[in-house]
Amino acid sequence: MRCPFAAVAVSMILIALAAGCGGTPESVGTGSTNSSLQSFFAPGDASLAARASAKGIVYGAATTPNALADARFATAFAAECKVLVTENALKWRDLSATPYSYDFSAADALLSFARSHNLTFRGHTLVSHDTVPGWFQATVTPENAQQVLRGHIAGVVGRYAGQMHSWDVVNEAVEPSELEPGGLRGSSPWYRLLGPGYIEQAFRAAAEADPKALLVYNENWLEYDTPYCGQKRGAVLDLLAKLKAAGAPIHALGIQAHLDADLMLQNFDAVGFRAFLSKVAALGLKIMITELDVRDRNLPADADTRDAIVAGIYHKFLSVALSEPAVIAVETWGLSDNYTWNSTYYPRSDGLPVRPLPLDDAMKRKRAWHAIAQAFDSAAPR
Ligand code: XIL
Repeated sequence: MRCPFAAVAVSMILIALAAGCGGTPESVGTGSTNSSLQSFFAPGDASLAARASAKGIVYGAATTPNALADARFATAFAAECKVLVTENALKWRDLSATPYSYDFSAADALLSFARSHNLTFRGHTLVSHDTVPGWFQATVTPENAQQVLRGHIAGVVGRYAGQMHSWDVVNEAVEPSELEPGGLRGSSPWYRLLGPGYIEQAFRAAAEADPKALLVYNENWLEYDTPYCGQKRGAVLDLLAKLKAAGAPIHALGIQAHLDADLMLQNFDAVGFRAFLSKVAALGLKIMITELDVRDRNLPADADTRDAIVAGIYHKFLSVALSEPAVIAVETWGLSDNYTWNSTYYPRSDGLPVRPLPLDDAMKRKRAWHAIAQAFDSAAPR
């Protein structure tokens, strides 16, 4: 997925910045990289949550008990967010060390933080190819798989019933490169055990356990103009249409949006992505941007240059996404640069800390914060 034109794009940005195109609130772009060279400034002190909520949009972030143990982070989180997303605490492998055992202490700690700061709570994720516990393979068989799936969902969803804004019921079930019918991920343990029907079964079990939560299908790699992303958008639409036609209790599509800076600079398919959003909305579904962040691992080392490019990407993406009225929520995957999965999964080769999120490691609002704030300020109400 590495973009061969990224080096060219970055040099164009550097040339433009060297020519004096950076650092002020006004638009400073040139040519095809225009959006990446803008600088952003959202006046006033209002938080991201307040700006989003003024438009009927929910803003929040994913986090962990470890991050919230940092008092400065916790204060910033409560100030900027309206929803707390469980980054890992409700994944099955994080809940269950031994067969059928559950330890909810991390999730309960997050819920308690959310309640005491008047935040809503969002669960991630019930059924995924890569979050089953270590004991799963030796214990779950084609004979007991349906019962295990239903039992897991009933237990976890039931525990937080009535307290969840939304649940990611099924995560990343589509993988066109695996060449299964419908573009489904054939290597998923659930697909291997139960066939394609596991997706609908999961939504039905979640609705039984919590009739109030918004039930979400959550997916990645939907944003670019590559053949792969085109296939993925098509397969996701087919899946959503089938679930709706079967009367499955599905309410929204979650778009992860872990944006890769290189790909966003060269391959963001604004037209195809926008058309995709309309088609999802036409199925009667809401849309949530569920895991937004910007991977900066190949961007220039200079922090201010990097921040300007990252901010431009946030603004461009959100301007397109929020132009669809069915988009009702935006959640970033983390809030500040010192607590992000990118440090581990997508580190920079020069060893510098990554800068993918709206706040820096001192909880200061970055250019990205202003870009997101501006996108909320100019979004139409919904
Ligand atoms: C990531 C977490 O952020 C990491 O802390 C963890 O080690 C691995 O998973 N898409 C998803 C999330 O749906 O569950 C992933 O979260 C990020 C990609």
